[in-house]
This record gives sequence, structure tokens and C-alpha cells, in this order.
Amino acid sequence: MEDQEGFVSILGYQQYYRIAGPSEARATVVTLHGGPGSSHHYLLSMRDLARWGYRVIFFDQVGCGSSEVPPGTDRFSLEHNVEETEAIRQQLGHGKVHLIGSSYGGLLALAYAIKYQQNLRSLITVGGLADVPFATAEMARLIDEMPPEDAQAIRVHGGRGEFQHPDYVRATQRFYHTYLCRLPTWPPELTKSLQLGDERPVYRYMNGPNEFTITGTIRDIDLRAQLPTIHVPTLVLGGKYDEVTPAVAEQIHTGIPGSRRVTFPASSHTPFWEEREAFMSTVAAFLADVDGRAGPGSTRT
Ligand code: PHE
Repeated sequence: MEDQEGFVSILGYQQYYRIAGPSEARATVVTLHGGPGSSHHYLLSMRDLARWGYRVIFFDQVGCGSSEVPPGTDRFSLEHNVEETEAIRQQLGHGKVHLIGSSYGGLLALAYAIKYQQNLRSLITVGGLADVPFATAEMARLIDEMPPEDAQAIRVHGGRGEFQHPDYVRATQRFYHTYLCRLPTWPPELTKSLQLGDERPVYRYMNGPNEFTITGTIRDIDLRAQLPTIHVPTLVLGGKYDEVTPAVAEQIHTGIPGSRRVTFPASSHTPFWEEREAFMSTVAAFLADVDGRAGPGSTRT
């Protein structure tokens, strides 16, 4: 079946969406991309969840990917992204949804749940984070653990703001191939999302010049104190080599009572590509458990 694609007007701006899976679905899954400022493309492997009978919604956050770029920067905030997610759910979601957020999308999913959990069946974070300063400190530790010439290049040229220096660029590529995606050949969907992140204003404004230099507006966000208010079934996912480290995932897990946590042993930040089969079956088993139904092929009751 062909995916459905289009634009919806969300809080005054046209936002791109794409929906995979049957319209007579057992439930709807809404996915949230990271960056902040990248695009839905790198999440498209999650179309696989349609095999288990789910409708899977992707969208580009305001100013990102194919969505409209508003003038100025006041729409580029976690609070606005929460309201966009709620508006998308109301327009396309068919009631209560499962929410899966990757990276900053995981932070967004947590913020959404803190405000709107009555609209959720479940919550899943993948390489997500609650506490940006801690996640940033953890990435500094990962840099320290890189080969000395890479760590040195990142520290020296990064400190001087020489983000185009060839040694810095080379070290950044090594960081990405170790902690962002370990596959020898990257999925074109991931490359596309990173490229779009560089081309749109949101990434630099909210995140910073690259994955491990968090100088943008999200840099001080810390949702830990509100995590215990989340009572929907929650699954905390991440890779063993994730740039958003296992210690960051553990913070979410301990903060949300009754949450479950799974770490993918051969993955970094994109287990939905790096260990695609294991990832999808882990998510599908969790969703089926929440929905109180069996696995693939089950009939609706
Ligand atoms: N840049 C990460 C993403 O892909 C988000 C992030 C922000 C991670 C801050 C760690 C610290 O969404």
C-alpha cells in the first residue's frame, strides 16, 4: 500500500506529514524526529511497524524538512513542538496514540507526556533524553574516550570555533560513525535528514553547530523533576554506543516509575537501522502488550 502524504495547517503554518500502514489499523503510532531541526526521513524504517497492523505517522516539525519555515525564531521551541504534536494527533491521530520519539524527539515525547499523557496509549524514547546538560557532559566524556588525535582536534578547533577545519571535520565524522550510526554504509534517509538539518535554521538555533556542541536554546532543559508524573506505559530504548549514552537513558528509566528499558548491543543512536529487526520486534512486542493483543496476524477484537 502506498503511503499517504500531504500538508496540514498547524498553528498557522503548513506542515508536511506522511502516513504508512492500513487505515483500519489496530492503533496509530506517531513518530517524532530529533535534531532538533532534522527531518522525519531518518525515521522511515519505522514504516516496518505497519507489518504488525499499525498506522505510522511521520511529520516534519515547523521549520524542518518539507514543512513551512516561519519568519523569525519564536516558533522554534520545545513548547511549540509539544503543541504541534498535539495538533497533529488531533488532526491525523484517530484518538489516543502511541508516541515514539528519537533523540530530541524523545525529549519532546517526554514533554508531550508531561502535558498531554491522557492522549497517549504509550510512550517510547529512542536515544532520548530528559536532562540536556547531563547528556552534553556525557558526550564530552565520549570525546575524551576517542583516539587522542580526534579528541584533540575536537577540543582545539571546536574551542576556536573552526568547525570547517579538515581535522575537526574528520574527527566529527569519526564521532558520527561511532556514536550516531555504526553501519558501514549509512541509510540515505539518515544522510538526508542530517543534510536538511544543516540547511534549515532550526538545528543551529535550537541545538548548535553539530551533535556534540549544544550551544542552542535547548542547552539548559532539564525535565527530570516532572518525570515521576508520567504514568503511561513507557519503554526507554537506546544503543550501547549511543551518543545519548546509556546513563542518560537510565535517568529516564529511573525517573518514570514502572518504565521498561532495553539497550541494543550493536547500536549507537539509530538502532532502528543498525539492528532493525530486533528494534522492530522489541517495539511491536511492547505495543502489543500495551494494546493487550497478540503479535502479527492477530485479528481485531
Ligand atoms: N542532537 C540530538 C538529536 O539528534 C539531540 C541532543 C541534544 C542530544 C542535546 C544530546 C544533547 O536530536
